[in-house]
This record gives sequence, C-alpha cells and structure tokens, in this order.
Amino acid sequence: MNEPVLVALRGASYAYEDGPAVLSGLDFEVRAGRALALLGRNGSGKTTLMRLLSGGLRPRAGQLTVEGRPVRYDRKGLTLLRTTVQLVVQDPDDQLFAASVAQDVSFGPLNLGLPDTEVRARVDESLAALDISALADRPTHLLSYGQRKRTAIAGAVAMRPRVLILDEPTAGLDPDGQERLLATLDGLRESGTTVVMATHDVDLALRWADNAALLTPAGAVTGPAAPTLARTDLLEQAGLRLPWGVAVAELLRAQGLLTGQHPGPRTADELAALTSRQSAPPVPAEG
Ligand SMILES: Nc1ncnc2c1ncn2[C@@H]1O[C@H](COP(=O)(O)OP(=O)(O)O)[C@@H](O)[C@H]1O
Ligand SMILES: [Mg+2]
Repeated sequence: MNEPVLVALRGASYAYEDGPAVLSGLDFEVRAGRALALLGRNGSGKTTLMRLLSGGLRPRAGQLTVEGRPVRYDRKGLTLLRTTVQLVVQDPDDQLFAASVAQDVSFGPLNLGLPDTEVRARVDESLAALDISALADRPTHLLSYGQRKRTAIAGAVAMRPRVLILDEPTAGLDPDGQERLLATLDGLRESGTTVVMATHDVDLALRWADNAALLTPAGAVTGPAAPTLARTDLLEQAGLRLPWGVAVAELLRAQGLLTGQHPGPRTADELAALTSRQSAPPVPAEG
C-alpha cells in the first residue's frame, strides 16, 4: 500500500450537537488509485466519516489533510477540497435540486466560475460516463430512482474529483441497476478516479474493492480486501458477518477442493469456475 495518500483524517473526533461522540481520535486515509470500501454496521459512523472527508462536517478535534496539507475551512480552502474530493450522498433527492439533469450536473462547474464551453464539456463528459446523455434535458422529478442516482453521481463527476466518495451507492437499486452501477464505477476507476464506497454489504465489498476499511468502535482498520474481510475478530467488532465468498472458501478448503493461497470465489460464477476445474468425474448422460 505505497500509493500516495490523497486525503486523510488524523486523530479526528466528531459528535453531533447534544449527542455522544460518533468518532473519536480516528485515523483514516484514502490512497490514490485504490478502490476502497468503508464498512461498518448501521450507525457506526460511515456517513459521518464521509462528510468529514468531504468537508461537509468539520472535525471537533484532529485534522483533515489533502495531499499532506491541512484543509482550511474558508471559501478558498473548501473549494480546493471540493475539486479533490466529492461526496455523493445516499439519497439522490437530498442532492438534486435543479429543473433538468444537465442543469443539475452543471451546477458545480458553474460555481467554480469555469467558462461556458468548459462547463458544457464537463457536463457532456459526466453524462456520458454515467450513461445518461439521453436524459440531459429531462426534468429531474420525472426520473426513476436509478436515474436520479446516476444524475447525482454525474454532478460529482463533473467536478473532476480525484477522490469520488459514494455513500451506500447500491442501496435501493435492483440487481441489474447494481451491476450497471458497478460497471460504471469500474469505468471511473480506469479513467483514474479513486473511488470510496460506504456499505454494510460485505459480499459487495469483497467483490468490488481493492482495500477494505472496517469501522469498529476502536477505530478504522484498513487492508487489502480479501484478507481483511476474512478476519473474524475484526468483522465481529464491526458488527458484520463473514462474506459469502470467504465462508465458501473455508468450506472448499475443508473438503480439499481449494488449496494454497487461492483467495476463494467472490461470485457464484467464480465458484462455478473453481469447482469445474477440480476435475470431478463427468456425470454420465441419461439413457
Ligand atoms: N444529523 C445528526 N444529528 C444527530 N445524530 C446523528 C446525525 N446523523 C447521524 N447521527 C448519529 O451518529 C451516529 C453515526 O451515524 P452515521 O454516521 O449516519 O452512521 P452510518 O452511516 O454508519 O449508519 C448514529 O448514532 C446516528 O444516530
Ligand atoms: Mg450512513
């Protein structure tokens, strides 16, 4: 894990007004180019942490840094932060407000004071990246939930952030919508965006992420996704269960069907490929 740290919290604490501490003394960093899944049970502070990373909340103690430099919470500092880190909130209806899709997506770049041609280029580019170019002039209130979600993500992508943070991005999507969104996120990763996703779905994290960060009451533990998501002690502290793929791998090992360093299957297709490679005797044809 030697990629440069793009954004980091050091010793960060946060409590909502009149509430107990949600996070205290937390260290957390996002490294360039790694798809990072942030995992924790409901109420563990994932959303709070993402809002701290994107500047929507300011830590009560500790520090947020971008490429090693402390973030200043004035207009200039926050603009600099927002061109580096963009957050897509869980509910697109909390993010969308303009009349049409293109207007909504253009809001951020317009706010940066970019010339019209540049704004238009960015809007076109992000609508294309999210596969919603055909919806450019559609009123946002006529969109489906999945389309609103894509529009919200396009608005963040139009800022050309180096780090794109998504809060539970697959929540509320049907299975096909989830697959299409993961493919879209892969496209963004390939074009150089570091993607961070909060989720409580351990199977999704194992399948999608390079690195996983588990948010436990004692802090965040980050490491390569497969071994980190196989640590039952950490998963228990985080209030999460073992991913399906890890459990299956343990069963296959116990049966002698999986050997060595193979991390095990992450999807049903990978399981099928693994078991068919084990040269089981062919099933005789009927008749
Ligand atoms: N706006 C808020 N005001 C007061 N308490 C909040 C607010 N948002 C979240 N909390 C509390 O902070 C804790 C962490 O919440 P959150 O960051 O939303 O966790 P997660 O995203 O992991 O479910 C929870 O106990 C939640 O009730
Ligand atoms: Mg949340």
